[in-house]
Amino acid sequence: MNAKLHLLGAGRAATALARLLQQRGFQIGKVVCTSLESAGSAVDVIGAGHPSTEPAAALEAGVTTLWGVPDRDIAPLATSLAQQPGMLTDAVLLHLSGSLTSEALHPLRERGASLGSLHPMRAFADRQQPPSSLQGVFFGIEGMSAAAQRASELVQALQGVALPVTTATKPLYHAAASAASNGLVAVYDLAETLERAAGASPELAREALLTLMAGTLENLRAHGSPRALTGPIERGEVEVIEGHRQAMLEQAPASWPLYSALAVSLVDVACRKGSLDQEAARQLLASLEPPA
Ligand SMILES: NC(=O)c1ccc[n+]([C@@H]2O[C@H](COP(=O)([O-])OP(=O)(O)OC[C@H]3O[C@@H](n4cnc5c(N)ncnc54)[C@H](OP(=O)(O)O)[C@@H]3O)[C@@H](O)[C@H]2O)c1
Repeated sequence: MNAKLHLLGAGRAATALARLLQQRGFQIGKVVCTSLESAGSAVDVIGAGHPSTEPAAALEAGVTTLWGVPDRDIAPLATSLAQQPGMLTDAVLLHLSGSLTSEALHPLRERGASLGSLHPMRAFADRQQPPSSLQGVFFGIEGMSAAAQRASELVQALQGVALPVTTATKPLYHAAASAASNGLVAVYDLAETLERAAGASPELAREALLTLMAGTLENLRAHGSPRALTGPIERGEVEVIEGHRQAMLEQAPASWPLYSALAVSLVDVACRKGSLDQEAARQLLASLEPPA
């Protein structure tokens, strides 16, 4: 495979990937940002590349371009770059968005490029992500066959794992990733609020809850859902849930809507686990009704 890569947009995600790909023998060509200063900083982190502010410079026949621009800029850039002259024969264009499909790049089909998306299932807080943190990361891959093939090769070079997705199912794939990653933050935030309302210091609350959550993640890895479910709903303890409701409505009422919504969904999980009979499920759901 051609080992040359251009970057169109080199912020947190693209820089982290390019830095590791550079270490794995890929040749980094153009590194395009909106400012030359920012492109220069990205080149410094990657350890290679030619800074530029000219998006058209990042497209070349036979070469793969990673599109690391924000999601909202992908389609407008594709539309404007489709107006440029010259065919992009054997070029592969891969954007990194989880929410968009290769269709965001569609105008560039007319220039002969193969279009796809390569979404790292990993949060990048800054450009300085240590390459080791990408080990074993899953990548959602979607798009035209040459683009998907190229994306798989890049994932292999990154020592990640390819997760093929179709264009039609990519929104569901992304909803799953958002639920697992962002939903966990919402659940943590709820738990921290309750733990602090119960009198724990912020430090102790965080340590206690993250230790608990880490154990639950281990159980999920070992047993999956619904088998990993434990706790009062799994055991059908209606009086415990009533106690939670009463305490929360008195002392932390803002937490009740999310807590009860999660608990309703756990009743379903417990039913699928087979640990709740219909009567216990009915009583639990009644105690989770919104307050009159
Ligand atoms: N960050 C994550 O955790 C993460 C995870 C998975 C996937 N992704 C995906 O990765 C992509 C990039 O996200 P990010 O978080 O890395 O973004 P980011 O840190 O905000 O970086 C965006 C980069 O694009 C450049 N840029 C913006 N508009 C441009 C234009 N018109 N022409 C050329 N360059 C332009 C910016 O240049 P300047 O530096 O000069 O502003 C910047 O270097 C998105 O599709 C996102 O969904 C991100």
